[in-house]
Amino acid sequence: MLEVERLEVSYGALAALHGISLTIRPGEMVALVGPNGAGKSTLLKTIAGLLVPRAGVIRWEGRPVSAETPHRIIERGVALVPEGRRLFARMTVRENLELGAFTTRAQRERRAQLDRVYRIFPRLLERERQWAGSLSGGEQQMLALGRALMGLPRLLLLDEPSLGLAPRVVESIFSVLAELHREGMSLFIVEQNVQAVLTLAQRAYILEGGRIVGEGEGQRLLQDDHVRAAYLGPLARGASS
Ligand SMILES: Nc1ncnc2c1ncn2[C@@H]1O[C@H](COP(=O)(O)OP(=O)(O)O)[C@@H](O)[C@H]1O
Ligand SMILES: [Mg+2]
Repeated sequence: MLEVERLEVSYGALAALHGISLTIRPGEMVALVGPNGAGKSTLLKTIAGLLVPRAGVIRWEGRPVSAETPHRIIERGVALVPEGRRLFARMTVRENLELGAFTTRAQRERRAQLDRVYRIFPRLLERERQWAGSLSGGEQQMLALGRALMGLPRLLLLDEPSLGLAPRVVESIFSVLAELHREGMSLFIVEQNVQAVLTLAQRAYILEGGRIVGEGEGQRLLQDDHVRAAYLGPLARGASS
């Protein structure tokens, strides 16, 4: 279980998260939606240990992670698939995947996990020896997800996995996420594709201006007036970019 309590994060004098609290139960798929600049990436980066909170606590499986290094947090089973994928363009697909297995635990399971990632994404096996930089956007997202899986996460944090991808590719990424969820993984997904993610996720939080302004079951939020007007109406931006 992930517990975030009264989390405050700032960039210098600029406060980005104003005391937010949320929970992700074991095996749950939870979405985080909100406009650009709301603090969604800030929250995921802080959970992954890339940013240090000014106040508040983050607990994973009962113990705080807020004071640990990113490396240690991955060892504890929490992996981030960052916005923009952050691959090593001049390394091969295979090399990028192997870099994801850097913890002792993941090293031991590396071969089996590589086979698993190739089973999930056969395209990555076909492209095994190609440079990551030569892949299509969809293939790069698969690689970023595959690399995170190489670290054997129990909680996967995904920052806008569908950004810039064609609808067909988005559908296949989302069906992989649904499959991981069925296998028992916990997922926390930031998405601009609000309709799709609220359909997929069990629960969602709405983040606006660094504050949680709504929470509920995905299906229920799809009927919510504020959500419909802000994220699903004809004027909603970036709904399916
Ligand atoms: N590295 C940074 N330095 C200063 N301000 C930042 C930095 N990253 C994000 N911010 C600011 O923090 C706020 C939240 O940003 P972010 O978490 O990226 O939002 P989102 O992912 O919801 O679009 C925004 O006002 C943004 O301008
Ligand atoms: Mg962001």
